[in-house]
Amino acid sequence: MKRLLTGLQPSGELTLGSLIGGIRQSVAFQEEYDSFIFVPDLHAITVPQDPILLRERIKKNVALYLACGIDPTKNTIYLQSQNLYHTNLSWVLECNTYMGEASRMTQFKDKSKKQQNVAVGLFTYPILMAADILLYDADFVPVGVDQKQHVELARDIATRFNNKYGDVFTIPEPLIPKVGAKIMNLQDPTRKMSKSDTDSKGIIFLLDSEEVIVKKIMSAVTDSDNKVYYDMENKPGISNLLTIYSALSNMEIKEVERKFSDSNYGNLKKEVASLVVETLLAIQEKYKSFMEGDTIEKILEEGCIKTNKIAKEKYDSVLEKVGLGRV
Ligand code: AMP
Ligand code: TRP
Repeated sequence: MKRLLTGLQPSGELTLGSLIGGIRQSVAFQEEYDSFIFVPDLHAITVPQDPILLRERIKKNVALYLACGIDPTKNTIYLQSQNLYHTNLSWVLECNTYMGEASRMTQFKDKSKKQQNVAVGLFTYPILMAADILLYDADFVPVGVDQKQHVELARDIATRFNNKYGDVFTIPEPLIPKVGAKIMNLQDPTRKMSKSDTDSKGIIFLLDSEEVIVKKIMSAVTDSDNKVYYDMENKPGISNLLTIYSALSNMEIKEVERKFSDSNYGNLKKEVASLVVETLLAIQEKYKSFMEGDTIEKILEEGCIKTNKIAKEKYDSVLEKVGLGRV
């Protein structure tokens, strides 16, 4: 069985974008692959975080993964910070990554513009991400398009390392979902719906109430043409709503376009809202039950023990290759 690995940052509350672009792909893949899914909590502190909120969010994240259909018997689920080999390997990889390569990361350029004081960790974070992936010999890494460049960096680092020291790492491949690859902000459909945004009006959070979801979708920004069809460039708002509907109904965009070809914008929004509400309320019910018991602690403990064993083996072999470790 090929191994698949992915992580969702607890840097903000999970959104409809995280569900469609991230978690749902993992749910589909768990049948086919040996799946590893983790919370990259160390990545979260590359930007300022409130410690109490952060800890809460990590647990909520795991509960949401499970509620969204991640099956703990088919996935290895763990926290990045509970495995010291991630940061240890990251250091070795940093020493095998060029400044030029790291400086090309477009997400760093975007994110650093938004910070007053930019942490060094924000710059080196793609290398920690490479360590997350390479430590477990992941064959596939499902991510949204915005993370593709980081997986490509991991490939470049792994290839260079293998060429220099002999075969150590599996070269990972990004898996980019076809439909719903990018869900846009409802208030500014030219921007990604991002959980780290401060203005929540254009963002649907997985734990939003029915009332809030309906309100946000009904006030989504569209255009004045009042014809429903998909055209991301000229009709980003309507196209985004069609994308959401398509992703949640498992219908092709073309089919969704046909279904709504005679609708006005109000009707389209109502239908999209009702599908989003139906999807999210079902998730929220399961989420509540996971937050109450001790299932999560048990799953994470198991994941921690298992992944530490795997990671130690890989890390030891890396040390040996570079001339470190036991003499
Ligand atoms: P983020 O929520 O930005 O930390 O990203 C977590 C994962 O979900 C990554 O693989 C992203 O590419 C994906 N993702 C996040 N937001 C969206 C979005 N609006 N549309 C599609 N995928 C997304
Ligand atoms: N950087 C990813 C994000 O912003 C999260 C992440 C960290 C990740 N390490 C990873 C994703 C390894 C896939 C594989 O969402």
